[in-house]
Amino acid sequence: MGEDEVQKLIVRGGNRLQGRVKISGAKNAALAILPAVLLASEKVLLNNVPDIIDVRTMLRIVEDMGMTIRRRGRNSLEFHPSGLRGFSPPFSLVQKIRASSYLMGSLLGRFGKAMVPVPGGCDLGPRPIDQHLKGFTALGAACRIEHGVIRLAADKLTGAHIYLDVVSVGATVNLMLGAVLAEGRTVLENVAKEPEVVDLANMLNAMGAVVKGAGTDVIKIDGVRALGGAEHAIIPDRIEAGTFMLGAAATGGKVTVGEVIPKHLEAVTAKLREMGVAVEVEPEQITVSRTGPLLPSDLKTFPYPGFPTDLQPLGMVLLTAAPGTSIVTENVFDNRFRHVDELEKMGAQIKVEGRAAVIDGGVPLSGAPVSATDLRAGAALLVAGLIARGETVLGEVDHIYRGYENIENKLTALGAQIKRQNRGGSSGLTGDPG
Ligand code: UD1
Repeated sequence: MGEDEVQKLIVRGGNRLQGRVKISGAKNAALAILPAVLLASEKVLLNNVPDIIDVRTMLRIVEDMGMTIRRRGRNSLEFHPSGLRGFSPPFSLVQKIRASSYLMGSLLGRFGKAMVPVPGGCDLGPRPIDQHLKGFTALGAACRIEHGVIRLAADKLTGAHIYLDVVSVGATVNLMLGAVLAEGRTVLENVAKEPEVVDLANMLNAMGAVVKGAGTDVIKIDGVRALGGAEHAIIPDRIEAGTFMLGAAATGGKVTVGEVIPKHLEAVTAKLREMGVAVEVEPEQITVSRTGPLLPSDLKTFPYPGFPTDLQPLGMVLLTAAPGTSIVTENVFDNRFRHVDELEKMGAQIKVEGRAAVIDGGVPLSGAPVSATDLRAGAALLVAGLIARGETVLGEVDHIYRGYENIENKLTALGAQIKRQNRGGSSGLTGDPG
């Protein structure tokens, strides 16, 4: 049954998550690396590509632009760029994913031109792209926005010194994509240090680019004339791993998240330990288990290596189960508390004041009809359903499939009770072949 058929997920609470789960490739790394493939002049093989809706959309965009893609397995794809054409990707697909803004950087680098609609994506408040455009202008491109379309053009891209006013993953990625084929040296300052940025740099370097400093505040890029092919495995998804770690803690279970890079999860590990949860870290896996009560805590989101904003909604669900007062401060996005209304429907006691949410924890949640207001809010509500008494009916689940591979099957294998309700009205236990 295709995920596009699923209308609602029905979650019965009360079971602990127990067992081992293999984490998929990182969504945000894949969404940066696929546009980078447009810069290749030879065959590229990508492994550990997550099979999620946002990636499928990006693949359709790249294919529509003349890239030949051969599937070598569920998560391995081969790209042949010889038929690549055009600088204007299909707008109807581009509008579906925020990360399509990365096509600006790669198309500008490859063709000296790009025409991309102003990006959509999860509604987390205003998401400007001024830093992306400022950087492209510094590289020598003319930028204008007309009728909702961003038009970029440059006779020649030249390396530049660019200081980002805000630490932005998107601007860092886009400017790396735009600068690798520019003439001369580009220095990007105050850049994002996220592991996904490092993964992109590794991929670009494997293709013959010269990118240094990814993972620090300053990235230096020496432009090259052309990029060749490469073989690259996408890093594990630290947000998916964090979802299962927080889910294990919330349900009082014991889960091992496998094939992860524990270094990428240090903020989550530290917060869980602070809350009285046992976390065992091994070279490529982490085991989270809880037997005792949770302690309240304050959680503040920050760019990497801080606690990720993408796990803030899940952190909040966990804090609702910790008796006492906790405060969540969202420092990255202006409007990332839309899950609060939904959690309140389940009985959570949360007050939002600007960027802070004060949680009066320890009040048991009860199942209710709720909506996945965005991707990570959706995952958080799924976990809330797992700890709530009774049944939670989760709507707008399309958001969840944008970013999680096989999430219900993975949760069900760990002991969760989740059923699909399909658009035609049929329903089935997750994992049923039909
Ligand atoms: C990426 C991730 C998203 C994650 C976020 C923060 C992808 C596809 N998405 O989103 O999952 O939640 O990083 O870790 O990788 N900003 C500006 N001007 C700009 C660009 C950004 O003011 O030109 C602001 C944003 O409004 C936001 C902050 O900078 O407040 C961080 O945003 P950014 O890091 O750019 O997030 P995204 O790249 O959109």
